[in-house]
Amino acid sequence: MNLPAVSQMPLRALTVCAAGVAACLTMNLALAATPADQLAGYTAQAGALAVPSRGQSFFTARHGREWSCASCHGAVPTQAARHASTGKVIQPLAPAFNPERFTDPAKTEKWFRRNCNDVLGRECSAAEKADVLGWLTTLKP
Ligand code: HEC
Repeated sequence: MNLPAVSQMPLRALTVCAAGVAACLTMNLALAATPADQLAGYTAQAGALAVPSRGQSFFTARHGREWSCASCHGAVPTQAARHASTGKVIQPLAPAFNPERFTDPAKTEKWFRRNCNDVLGRECSAAEKADVLGWLTTLKP
């Protein structure tokens, strides 16, 4: 193992890796976040279960500014859509239609922060994130 790779690993995984390769692999699998893991995290933070219908309304409505979430992701984000200002293609946001979605909490948080600021002029609350993600995970092929 080279050092830069090790130093980028989460501390928890690193500790277990020192204990043995098998345990290390198990732990790394456990650390790979799924959409369900992230949803559980947001509902825990919010202290309430997600309400998918509220997530859908939140996603498609404008919040006093030019854009809604749907402006860039589409009203039903099960297919690719185009960025409202750059026209760049954005792959589907619903995880059942894009296996990369909601598998990297740092990426998810980065974009929630940025997009909520664009759409609402503030960050989204944990409850809003839970509702949106709760709705997105109900979208199935
Ligand atoms: C101005 C265009 C735009 C708007 C409006 C927008 N998004 Fe996005 N969103 C993007 C882009 C660009 C990305 C990053 C590229 C990608 O992941 O495809 C992204 C990515 C995301 C991600 C990352 C998901 C992951 O884990 O891969 C989430 C979550 C998200 N957006 C939620 C929202 C929500 C919620 C709203 C409304 C509050 C919203 N977006 C509004 C452009 C937008």
